[in-house]
Amino acid sequence: MIQKTLSIVKPDGVKRNLIGKIVAMFEDKGLKIAAMEMKLLSKKEAEGFYVVHKERPFFGELVDYMTSGPVVVMALEGENAVLRNREIMGATDPAKADAGTIRKLYGVNVGENTVHGSDSPENAAIEIGYFFPSSKIF
Ligand code: CMP
Repeated sequence: MIQKTLSIVKPDGVKRNLIGKIVAMFEDKGLKIAAMEMKLLSKKEAEGFYVVHKERPFFGELVDYMTSGPVVVMALEGENAVLRNREIMGATDPAKADAGTIRKLYGVNVGENTVHGSDSPENAAIEIGYFFPSSKIF
């Protein structure tokens, strides 16, 4: 089943010049870039994006971190893209991520974990719509 999912290269990934390496991992593993934009999230944008986590104790830290530098927001497309992207990223905590995954290779800690990816097809549609109008998705 061909799906789309949202990926974000987080500020730690952009700062450490990892955009190309991360994009290459997606492309090498069969996901196509359907939309892409580099941007500095406003506090409002980051709070809205992570609204499901607003009651979590780390919410403030998460928003501060995600607005600390530019990010690269992408829509990825491919066979089972939501699950495929999660496999390529690895577990949220880099210490628990499988060998060869983005978070194992590059993640610093659970906050600075280099990439975000949608966790379900329903959230993928919401998250892609949050950043991209349909005219910007190819
Ligand atoms: P992400 O996939 O972007 O979705 C929510 C983010 O919250 C998650 O990745 C982590 O980076 C972050 N997060 C989860 N748990 C913690 C935590 N205990 N402390 C700080 N950040 C966290």
